Parts: sequence; structure tokens; C-alpha cells
Amino acid sequence: MNILIIGSGGREYAIGLRLTQDSQKHNLFFAPGNGATSNLGQNVDIKDFNELAKFALNSKIELTIVGPENALSDGVVDIFKANNLNIFGPTKSAARLESSKAYMKEFLAKNGIRTAKFINTNSYEEAAKFIDSLGDIVVVKADGLCAGKGVIIAKSKDEAKKAAKDMLSGKSFGEAGSRVVIEEFLDGFELSFFAICDGSNFVSLPVAQDHKRLLDGDEGPNTGGMGAYAPSPLADENLIKRVQKEIIEPTLKGMQDENAPFCGVLFVGLMVVNGVPYVLEFNVRFGDPECEVLMPLIKGELGEILRGAALGKLNKFDLDDGYAVGVVLASKDYPYKSSPLAKIAVDNIPQNSHIAYAGVSLKDGELYASGGRVLVAIGKGGSVKEARDRAYDLAKNIKFDGMQYRKDIGYQAL
Ligand code: AMP
Ligand code: GLY
Repeated sequence: MNILIIGSGGREYAIGLRLTQDSQKHNLFFAPGNGATSNLGQNVDIKDFNELAKFALNSKIELTIVGPENALSDGVVDIFKANNLNIFGPTKSAARLESSKAYMKEFLAKNGIRTAKFINTNSYEEAAKFIDSLGDIVVVKADGLCAGKGVIIAKSKDEAKKAAKDMLSGKSFGEAGSRVVIEEFLDGFELSFFAICDGSNFVSLPVAQDHKRLLDGDEGPNTGGMGAYAPSPLADENLIKRVQKEIIEPTLKGMQDENAPFCGVLFVGLMVVNGVPYVLEFNVRFGDPECEVLMPLIKGELGEILRGAALGKLNKFDLDDGYAVGVVLASKDYPYKSSPLAKIAVDNIPQNSHIAYAGVSLKDGELYASGGRVLVAIGKGGSVKEARDRAYDLAKNIKFDGMQYRKDIGYQAL
């Protein structure tokens, strides 16, 4: 199949790498891709989605897979569909589950899906009044997309009110903060739950756990994610069934009622409080770095699975019974600012481990870390511990100036 993958991160690299393991041979294209995806296929430097659709038509692309949320909320799926192209991902309208927290919270309330108590407002007075009705810890969120940075966990009501005021005045997040969501604080553990959806049916993937904070022990600032593993033993059979029945099914039904059937990856950010699953957030795409550990756990022909889903005819597929752990190797100044180019040296790649490349560029035939999250070292094994040992053995064989990574990925599972 001729397959186009939109995006440039480790997530898109991991999808491409997994597609090369299908028994059916594919020709892969990445728009724009990174310095390593060019080893898996061809990088395409076209940013405009109308132009990209023309490229897809000319290149006889049979399936397009969209990685990042921005492309989805900018309507790439609508544009491709208008050109009769087969694309896996939600329309702009369905992508509002991620692009607007206010829409998402109202959708949950309307469909009786459990989530933290909240209000969504553009009025400071209303925000302050609601803050007074909550406990001491209060969560304040900007409504729009701010790359995971628009969330403040305030330790007191005064701090919460100040955060709401700063957002509403445009001081902290500009336009994205012109509406805020104020939420009750949920005290539990977080899981990433993924379902591949075709508009009405779904297949769920192994439950993953991300590590959003920069430093060991969940300290330091929030990042895009510093490591992940799956499946998590924190999600038992009963919890998985509850999430499917109480969250995924009503969401697919609710989106059909809104005339925005959900096709693509539904990624539920869960908070589990005393065994009960709450929706913290929806994302409408694979998580990064969760995708990097999920890809090796999907059995069968990935290209056919996603093509079926895009056509509204998702078939059941099997999952590997092993475990995968991914450790993000980030550049020196991540997540604060960009870092200088640094040459990457990889000693050797032991059995049952591999690399998903993210923030890398190619210069004179050599790979350089070009900032942000540079790559993910992934290990597979028969337990979280075995997979994690393999991921860290691989990480020790990789070097670039300023490299930093967490040493405790998967600690909640051990
Ligand atoms: P979000 O972008 O909404 O997923 O929020 C980012 C992070 O903030 C989440 O991964 C949680 O760790 C935390 N968070 C968000 N909302 C809540 C909440 N209501 N209670 C506790 N923690 C939260
Ligand atoms: N790793 C979390 C995300 O991709 O949003």
C-alpha cells in the first residue's frame, strides 16, 4: 500500500516502523517526517493540506494516518475526504473532543460520562465563586490547545483565583485562555486508554501509563511525556470493561448523535479514584510516547487494520501478550528552550529493543539531536521489569551531548 503519515515525531516514526513489519509491503511517505523517517520512506515537505491532498492523489496514496492534534483540529481529514482520499483520523468537528476542553466537558455532562466537577466560563466572578465551592486544591485550565501546558494545579483558593485571572486577562496563554475550565481536583492514579475507532465500533489497545513530569519521582515541570509502558497492571479486567462500557461506548454513540462520528484513535486520559474511572481529558490521536510502546504490541497487518477503520469497517485484531517500556531521551534544555545540535552515537542495539526517533535531523549522512524529545529507547519483554531493563540497557548505549532521561519509568508497575 502507498501510505502517507502526517507528523514528525517519535509517534509517527513508530507507526512507520511498525508498518515496515507488515507482511504486505508498503511504500511510506512522511509529511514532514524527521531526520530518521527518511530511512523508512520518503519525507515530503508540503505544509498546506490542500497541496498535500493533491500530492496524495498524484502519488496514489491509499491510506493517510494523522499523528498530531493540530493537523486534526485544522481539518486535514475534512480536506482529504473532500478529495475522496482514505484517511484515518477524526474530522475537525470530532476533533473538538481534544481542541476545546469546554466542548469536551459539556459533551461528557450531556452523555452522563464521569468526569471531575467543573464550570467553563469567561467570567472571573463566576470562576471565583465556583473556586470557593471546591476543596483546597483546585485545577484551572485554559480552554484552547496549549501543548499540555495550560493546566495549573493550584494548592490554595487564592492561587487558583490568581491563575484564573491571569488566564482570562490573556496574560498567561493569550487567546487559548479567553475561556477557562475550573475543576475539582481528583486524587488517584492516571492511565492512558486507547481505542481504535471506525465511527461506530472500536478495539481497545493495552492500557498504557505515561510519565508527564520531567524528573524522577514525578517532580519538575510537565512535559509532553518522558516515558511510557504498557500494558499496565494497574488496569485490571474489571476496570477495562468499565472504561469500555461507561466511557468509550457512550462517547461513540454521543458523537454519532452530534453528527460527528468518531473515526481515529480515541485516547482517554483517565484518573482512577478508588477503582472508579474518571475522564480527565480526551485526545483524538495516539499519545506520544505511548504510541511508541503500543505499536510493538499490535499483532497482524497494521496497514489493513487502520485502512479498515478509516473505511468504517474495523476488524478485530490480536494483541501481543508481552510488555513494552519506552524511555524518552531528551535534549539538554527540554522542556524550557531549544538545544544546540548534538551528534548521536548508538553503540549497539541489543535483542528485543529498538529506537523510535523523534527530534532528530540528518546532516552529512549522520543523525543529530535537534532538540526536544530526541528519541525513545524501547524494550520488550515478558514482564514490565524485563522490558524496562532492556529499555535502559539500550539507553546506556546511546550518547549525545546534554542527553537527559528519567531513571524510573514504569515505577508504579513494579
Ligand atoms: P490535561 O491537559 O487536562 O490532561 O491535564 C494535564 C495534567 O494535569 C493531567 O495529566 C493530570 O496530571 C493533571 N490534572 C488535570 N485535571 C486534573 C484533575 N481534575 N484532578 C487532578 N489532576 C488533574
Ligand atoms: N503523552 C501524552 C500525549 O501525547 O498527550
